[in-house]
Amino acid sequence: MSQDAKKRQVAEAAFDRIRDMLDTHTPIGIGTGSTTNHFIDVLGESGVQIAGAVASSEATRERLERIGIDVLDLNSTGTLSLYVDGADECDPRMNLIKGGGAALTREKIIAEASRFFLCIADDSKRVDVLGRFPLPLEVIPMARSLVGRKVVELGGDPAYRQGVVTDNGNIILDIHGLSIVDPKGLETAINQIPGVVTCGLFAHRAADTILLASDTGVVELTRD
Ligand code: A5P
Repeated sequence: MSQDAKKRQVAEAAFDRIRDMLDTHTPIGIGTGSTTNHFIDVLGESGVQIAGAVASSEATRERLERIGIDVLDLNSTGTLSLYVDGADECDPRMNLIKGGGAALTREKIIAEASRFFLCIADDSKRVDVLGRFPLPLEVIPMARSLVGRKVVELGGDPAYRQGVVTDNGNIILDIHGLSIVDPKGLETAINQIPGVVTCGLFAHRAADTILLASDTGVVELTRD
């Protein structure tokens, strides 16, 4: 099965999993990326009406609006019952690397604001130790060199993501060469560097459940 077919399969499984949580009174959070795009498509095809959604990127906002879903301001919704989003990597403890689509800051805000974070991915994202996928950092532009030097002190190899400006007007540094055995510790350490808006480690607010698509079907992972 192709990776895209797995993404569609897990999006359908996610819709079945959270169907009972959807109604016209309850806004939800929706993330960014190709897997999440499939989820938005499934939601649209279902015809199920929802109260609206908080979007983690302008790209997701446009996709939601195209299918007639109201895009809401998180400041007006308060705590969300549900957030659905993809990931670039996940480990057995439900820690994630996110930000391949440069939307990590808004994603982290919505994840923190949500009671239940459902992560959807295909099995290529599953690793034992995070770090094979370069860890994205959203960085204030004037701090690019400073943050790069600090990251080297932490053992990483930063690369400037050329031509990318985030929805918040910042840049992305992708950190190569990390083997992340202490995700919470590294998340804290990186977020302490002045100029880092946030890093793409989701360890302090990990996923609650991960649906993972493989050739043999979709499995549901929960924290052990
Ligand atoms: C967006 O910034 C990321 O966090 C995405 O969730 C991640 O890149 C997953 O993308 P795909 O679903 O396209 O693999």
